[in-house]
Amino acid sequence: MRIAVIGCGYLGAVHAASMAELGHEVVGIDVDERKVAMLCRGDAPFYEPEFGELLRHSLASGRLSFGTDVADAAGARVHFICVGTPQKHGEYAADLRFVRSAAESLLEVLEPGELVVGKSTVPVGTAADLAAMFGEKVPGSLLAWNPEFLREGFAVRDTLHPDRLVYGLPAGEDGDTAAAVLDEVYGPIVARGIPQVRTDYATAEMVKTAANSFLATKISFINAMAELCEATGGDVKLLADAIGYDDRIGRKFLNAGLGFGGGCLPKDIRAFMARAGELGADQALTFLREVDNINMRRRIRMVELAREVCDGSLLGKRVAVLGAAFKPDSDDIRDSPALNVAAQLQLQGAVVRVTDPAAVENSRREWPHLDYAATPEEAAERADAVLVLTEWKQYRDLDPAAFGEIVNRKRVLDGRNALDRDAWVAAGWSYRALGRRGS
Ligand code: UDX
Repeated sequence: MRIAVIGCGYLGAVHAASMAELGHEVVGIDVDERKVAMLCRGDAPFYEPEFGELLRHSLASGRLSFGTDVADAAGARVHFICVGTPQKHGEYAADLRFVRSAAESLLEVLEPGELVVGKSTVPVGTAADLAAMFGEKVPGSLLAWNPEFLREGFAVRDTLHPDRLVYGLPAGEDGDTAAAVLDEVYGPIVARGIPQVRTDYATAEMVKTAANSFLATKISFINAMAELCEATGGDVKLLADAIGYDDRIGRKFLNAGLGFGGGCLPKDIRAFMARAGELGADQALTFLREVDNINMRRRIRMVELAREVCDGSLLGKRVAVLGAAFKPDSDDIRDSPALNVAAQLQLQGAVVRVTDPAAVENSRREWPHLDYAATPEEAAERADAVLVLTEWKQYRDLDPAAFGEIVNRKRVLDGRNALDRDAWVAAGWSYRALGRRGS
């Protein structure tokens, strides 16, 4: 099947290459010439395990191409909209300008009988508006909403092996037609018997924001418990293990620490609250404001802890920050808790050196006033405190004895509860963590 993918960012580029892998003839379209040139060469414009290989494999098969002109989408049976929906500047609401411009550009090529499929995360109600617009301008075309649940770091696996397929469909026969086309697109995935939910537009749009809100709530719940552990001397890691054995609760997404960041969870809960307000249902989501507050308080607590271990003042203290990406296996620094903490430490007078295996280049561009080091050893040279703020495997695997030779004071703060506390303490380090007793 001929497929067009509008928007070749994280979501779109992975989706385009994955659809080609499923055997379709795919063209990816993006307005960013630099990004398109990289994709055409087989270079991944972002760090994502397995993506580079998949991209080059799909390009070599001849089934995948990229371009900047929407005219290349002409004749596609399905047009996926995969553009970003960032947070509006200074507001909670999502910025839909890229969705609107993608939809408008599609009007140049869309023909009756073709299907537009939205994958972007949008405020509930967006699909119905777009369906009305396409219905009026291109009668006979159809629209479906098919949210994507991929995680950064697992994007390829999540796209090719999703745990569910959600189709938001128009009513009646049009819905059956759209579902049949989507089943054909996802043929090999459908054949594996993956659970499928066929529903209306509003439910499909909400599945995505509800899922991300639930995940954010789970993280903030355990971080609220961490605050209590800090007040009582309890251990949040053992608490999470113990409640996680109850399979109604589950242990996943109960890792206490510096909290959530990235391009999805923070902005999605805020956009959900904003949309609920517009719909007169804001009370239903006031708890998400607290989820956000708990999350932001962890960053402040981390800075306090750093000040505490540095004998009450950060002024002139050398602090090594290990990790800049919002999570490991990613070079994404959007709303990164680690960089937020690094900047606060610097504001309070600390001499901060940040390192990350993948995200230094992006960090330098967005946070040019911070100092960067290529390796943890370089960052920690003569440090008064070492903070582990993104749990890269490289940092979990550090040898605390050898690492102790580099620093000025052996003081480590484990912002992700990722280190082997006993090993660090045995090597003579003073160990502090969020939600756990220190050594
Ligand atoms: C998330 C959703 O998981 C995914 O389904 C959706 O499609 C996009 O948003 P992603 O942003 O890639 O994916 O990251 P995720 O793995 O969910 O982590 C989000 C943040 O939560 C990270 O900053 C991570 O460090 C933090 N986190 C995660 C915790 O603090 N504790 C946990 O237990 C889990």
